[in-house]
Amino acid sequence: MAELGHTVIAVDSDAGKVESLSRGVAPMFEPGLDELLAVVLPTGRLRFTTDYAQAANADVHFICVGTPQRRGENAADTSFVFAAAQSLAPHLSGKALVVGKSTVPVGTAARLRDRLQQGAPSGVGVRLAWNPEFLREGFAIRDTVAPNRFVYGVQGPSADADVALLDEVYASPLASGTPRLVTDFATAELVKVAANAFLATKISFINAMAEVCEAAGADVVQLADALGHDDRIGRKFLNAGVGFGGGCLPKDIRAFMARACELGADEALGFLREIDAINVRRRSRMVDLAREQCGGTLAGRRVAVLGAAFKPDSDDIRDSPALDVAEAARQEGAVVTVHDPKAIEAARLVHPELAYADTVEGACMGANVVLHLTEWKQFREIDPAALAAVVANPLIIDGRNTLDPARWRSAGWVYRALGRPTV
Ligand code: UGA
Repeated sequence: MAELGHTVIAVDSDAGKVESLSRGVAPMFEPGLDELLAVVLPTGRLRFTTDYAQAANADVHFICVGTPQRRGENAADTSFVFAAAQSLAPHLSGKALVVGKSTVPVGTAARLRDRLQQGAPSGVGVRLAWNPEFLREGFAIRDTVAPNRFVYGVQGPSADADVALLDEVYASPLASGTPRLVTDFATAELVKVAANAFLATKISFINAMAEVCEAAGADVVQLADALGHDDRIGRKFLNAGVGFGGGCLPKDIRAFMARACELGADEALGFLREIDAINVRRRSRMVDLAREQCGGTLAGRRVAVLGAAFKPDSDDIRDSPALDVAEAARQEGAVVTVHDPKAIEAARLVHPELAYADTVEGACMGANVVLHLTEWKQFREIDPAALAAVVANPLIIDGRNTLDPARWRSAGWVYRALGRPTV
């Protein structure tokens, strides 16, 4: 927002993050973010604070807090959204527009508007819009300043003025032709979860095909390539492997099912249970394949895990398939060493029981099997011949189907992958 020319006050309850961001250091790894902070902070248009009062004069207040899965349940925990709204409400003025960005169960915006109204100074009419974001980690900046669409959920007497104000905020990307759709609250809330449910379905579809390919001796990568040429299907999100993880897709499909159940529409989303089950099965299939390839047991075997983040270009390890597989192998008695270009620090905090190495070679030293579980570019550039010299056994299982089988095999490796023929 500051890069787009606005004056921004970013409020967070975590003083550590506020302090670090004020120094220009992002509290997580996201390509280009530190560089962008370095450009924007000296302009004075971006400040960080823990004090809501400093945001009192803003024209627009974005609520961007997380909605994680509730412990032991499928439903989303929206308490952070309501807590942020409660802290903000006393500072609202009649001109200000509150804009929800968080991914929420449908129906939350209407409840939130009531809650804001209760907490606002008397005489202030609360204005709320729902404006979901669709950014992908690793592409966060590009997806924010040049998204593929804007969705504005607006309702009530200020709806036209709310649209006009959001158009001002997004004037620059709108001028470049970004499509913009105006809906009611419920539709805007649903666009986000429906999009993530569709993406999860696409991934689990191709992973289900990978299971059939394995049974039939077919090749899921060739299958995906051939399917993808049909532009009604498209090749994106048809990469088979250990499946989807992260802070969004897994918890969003579960929260969507839970909300549909509350609305009496549970039958409509019954298929998402299967999408989730296929996805979870990929992780155990990976461990099964590693065990099979290691002579029927992982006990005492040295396992190198390449990848800890849930996807490349991120240090986010939430619901990471790579760490799940690493931990499952360790529980079977394997000696597991993990390497990731950016996520080791985060992984160590959550899985201190695993061993970590700063380099690919360090992780693979003496390994009986190498598991490729997050498709970092660096891993595609590994020289298989050089790596063969450090492992005990040149056996690699590609859990992301992004390594070149011919390259690895010609360097003397046994290359196995999920959903691909043995040779
Ligand atoms: C996802 C959506 O793609 C964004 O549009 C959305 O805004 C975001 O969630 C969110 O709800 O905030 P993200 O979680 O960053 O973004 O990651 P994705 O690129 O969707 O990947 C999710 C997982 O699926 C990763 O573990 C990735 O490795 C896996 N994946 C992706 C596959 O296994 N196969 C594929 O073909 C694509």
